[in-house]
Amino acid sequence: MIRMMMVGLALLAPAAWAGEGAALPHKDWGFEGVRATWDKDELYRGYTVATQVCMACHSFKYVSHRDLMRVGFTESEVQTLAKALNMDMNAKLKTGMDDATAKETFGKVPPDLSLMNRARPGGADYTYALMHGYSDDSATIVKYLPGGVPQGAYFNTYYPGHAIAMANPLSGPGLVTYHDGKEATVDQMAHDVSVFMQWTAEPERMDRQAWGVYVLIYLFIFTVLAYLTKRVIWKDVKKH
Ligand code: HEC
Repeated sequence: MIRMMMVGLALLAPAAWAGEGAALPHKDWGFEGVRATWDKDELYRGYTVATQVCMACHSFKYVSHRDLMRVGFTESEVQTLAKALNMDMNAKLKTGMDDATAKETFGKVPPDLSLMNRARPGGADYTYALMHGYSDDSATIVKYLPGGVPQGAYFNTYYPGHAIAMANPLSGPGLVTYHDGKEATVDQMAHDVSVFMQWTAEPERMDRQAWGVYVLIYLFIFTVLAYLTKRVIWKDVKKH
């Protein structure tokens, strides 16, 4: 039932992909489905990639370290993480790169990533695919960009238009060291940062889901009560 409702909702979501990027593969995410949860370790790993790799250029300006306490981090854990980045735990996650430098370097200001997974059709599927979408293979590139890759841009299968101003940020394994000893393969980092960005984009997701369950339980109890009431009433009616 919940699954059916979720499918229904998914169909209402912006299904119209711009059409310029390649079709997105769908991944099974822990934050989707009936048993959906935010996995603290996954988010911690995603946070590590986000702050140690992506934040060189991107901000997550709607998120502070303190917000991590909503997904099971303790205050002292959060404080330690913030301190390691020389940040106040209440400060928003802002990149050290100023817009002017960014524009000069990339020709574009790297967008804020807090809400990106909500802004792009496909959400986490898009971010994950984007991280895997880089290629040097000339046959692949020619297929999408017959005129070649424009100066200063990089080929990416999933970016609409296929020429992105961001070089492959996850260019090889081991860019970070994970707190749980998990191997930082490119795929693992792409996965974890996509989950982290899903959380920053819709931190209230699980609350919403919990409410959905309460509503279903309420409706169930209400139906049973209505049925019993009907039986009691009709019992009397039949007697007369
Ligand atoms: C060296 C700088 C740099 C780093 C590091 C970097 N990015 Fe970017 N990113 C950019 C720039 C520049 C753009 C704008 C690209 C464009 O629109 O052509 C961008 C755009 C994006 C977009 C938006 C694409 C779209 O559909 O508009 C996403 C998503 C993204 N980056 C994710 C990431 C993630 C995740 C990381 C870390 C793993 C990361 N970036 C690291 C520079 C960077």
